[in-house]
Amino acid sequence: MQLARKDLLGIESLSKKEIELILETAKTFQEISTREVKKVPTLRGKTVINLFFEDSTRTRTSFEIAGKRLSADVINISQKGSSVAKGETLLDTAKNIEAMGPDLIVCRHWAAGVPHFLASRLKASIINAGDGAHEHPTQALLDLMTIREAKGKIAGLNVSIVGDISHSRVARSNIHALNKMGARVTVAGPATMIPAEIEKMGVKVSTDLRKGIASADVIMMLRIQRERLTMSPFPTLREYSQLYGLNKEALKGAKPDVVIMHPGPVNRGVEIDPEVADGPYSLILDQVTNGVAIRMAVLYLLSGPKGKAAL
Ligand code: CP
Repeated sequence: MQLARKDLLGIESLSKKEIELILETAKTFQEISTREVKKVPTLRGKTVINLFFEDSTRTRTSFEIAGKRLSADVINISQKGSSVAKGETLLDTAKNIEAMGPDLIVCRHWAAGVPHFLASRLKASIINAGDGAHEHPTQALLDLMTIREAKGKIAGLNVSIVGDISHSRVARSNIHALNKMGARVTVAGPATMIPAEIEKMGVKVSTDLRKGIASADVIMMLRIQRERLTMSPFPTLREYSQLYGLNKEALKGAKPDVVIMHPGPVNRGVEIDPEVADGPYSLILDQVTNGVAIRMAVLYLLSGPKGKAAL
């Protein structure tokens, strides 16, 4: 089977078969990260550029590790320290980078649509590492992998995504991904943080945390995306935390085998209490570990001729 596309821009345009291919490929790459010498020659001679116009710890580092474990040459470029700071346009920056012959460009940008803009103009494969509030496809893929590892399946599960849904690319990509894989999604949070008509995406909506998580097999907590807020959607952080923060008390009404996820960065004491984030039902660090395998799979599957790679 092949991943017959040049770019990975979002989950919305992926088929279930393509998602399964990426998950299965990632599973085969997991073992490499447990070896004493964590390196295989699969992408020797390939060049990956991490082009990050927004801060990142997990995504940028795991794409770099993923590329290096596959023996690709990996170069990191961030807005700060590049000639973007001197007024160079995005397209000029991208064309100058392309002139150096990269095979894959991993792009994070604060504006939705930038990876699509680059994909339509550059020969290199573009991977969306998060564009504004639009999509974060590799986050959703690593979340699917983590859920399947913990629960043995995805289809039929109830997944509740809680918090700032309006500004979250993670929520958007996960809603697409979970729907395609047959899970049932509920979004929960203050009405001011839930987009109008989100039900059209095939989700249930709750503005009550306890009701929103009561039947959940998986709870995904989200941080408030303060960098994307133009006005405060709630009176105080304290009030938000009291109503929507996940703590042991709120979890008493949840299923006993519920698992807790969070894409990070975590704002401890705001959307999640430390005892929950670090508790036995937390998969937060498993998500980070699986991020490396998923990104290895994506780099590999997009690095074949014209973006076609045989499994
Ligand atoms: N989950 C996620 O995208 O984290 P970073 O912003 O640290 O990459």
